Amino acid sequence: MILLGGSASNDLSKEIAKLLDCEYLESRINEFPDGERLITIDHDLEKEDVIIVQSTFRPQDSNLMELFFLLDALKDWRCRTTVLVPYFGYGRQDRSFHSGETVSSRAIARHLSLDSDLFITINPHKEYILDHFTCKALNLDAAPLIGKYFSAKDLSCPVVVAPDAGSKNMAQRVGDMLDCRIENCNKKRLGPGKVITSAEGVELEGEDVIIVDDIIDSGGTIVEAAKALKDQGAGPIHVACIHPVLTANAAERILNVAEELVATNTIETPYSKISVAGLIADAVKKG
Ligand code: R5P
Repeated sequence: MILLGGSASNDLSKEIAKLLDCEYLESRINEFPDGERLITIDHDLEKEDVIIVQSTFRPQDSNLMELFFLLDALKDWRCRTTVLVPYFGYGRQDRSFHSGETVSSRAIARHLSLDSDLFITINPHKEYILDHFTCKALNLDAAPLIGKYFSAKDLSCPVVVAPDAGSKNMAQRVGDMLDCRIENCNKKRLGPGKVITSAEGVELEGEDVIIVDDIIDSGGTIVEAAKALKDQGAGPIHVACIHPVLTANAAERILNVAEELVATNTIETPYSKISVAGLIADAVKKG
């Protein structure tokens, strides 16, 4: 087995290769003056069993094109290919919200399926995007890893809070690991990066609060939830997510209202202290 690390997930790829005790390779990337990239694999991979790891966050299109080029090369070598996309970019465009809108996640799923034998991702925004794959597709759940991280911190009687209805299940899975109270806020989205949130009915008396979400993008969801929870009497606020997209100054805005921000390394950021490498390695071993 060979692990081919995409340029968006180098550190995570190396960690997975170590756990799987397999060969690790990177491609060589050159850029032409017009911005097009030439991706070269300096090894003969004829009929090998290969895992490609590449998250598709910003710059999404360029990370996706790299993945498509690598997959195409492996197809030519008649490899058995597992595609691992820890963070699946465009995942939130999972249906046509307004007439005429293209369904980005479906288009990507269909294209990735063409040259892959197995597709693996972690907590896509909506699990049903896996139905668009025509190859075998698996979803891994990193929420228990967040629970494990906070168990080790030994907070006394923390309250796990979902910042919106969509995060309730995830909050439940984290809360189950901590055996603690679970609450949720009510969020209304006014537009990209603009939300209003209330935590009415959530009674707090200085407890540690852990707000968990699948993705943090602009940070608006978390900042508004943190403010609403403070109004309800929250003590120290900890923020955790699976995918730290963290656009612009999202992290800074969050750390103005929370004492901690922690995430997994599906996207490699300074806050990615929880590794998904073990979760992925176990899934690959099971096939
Ligand atoms: C929404 O449904 C997601 O679960 C996240 O809450 C959302 O993507 C976060 O976005 P932002 O950080 O821009 O509020």
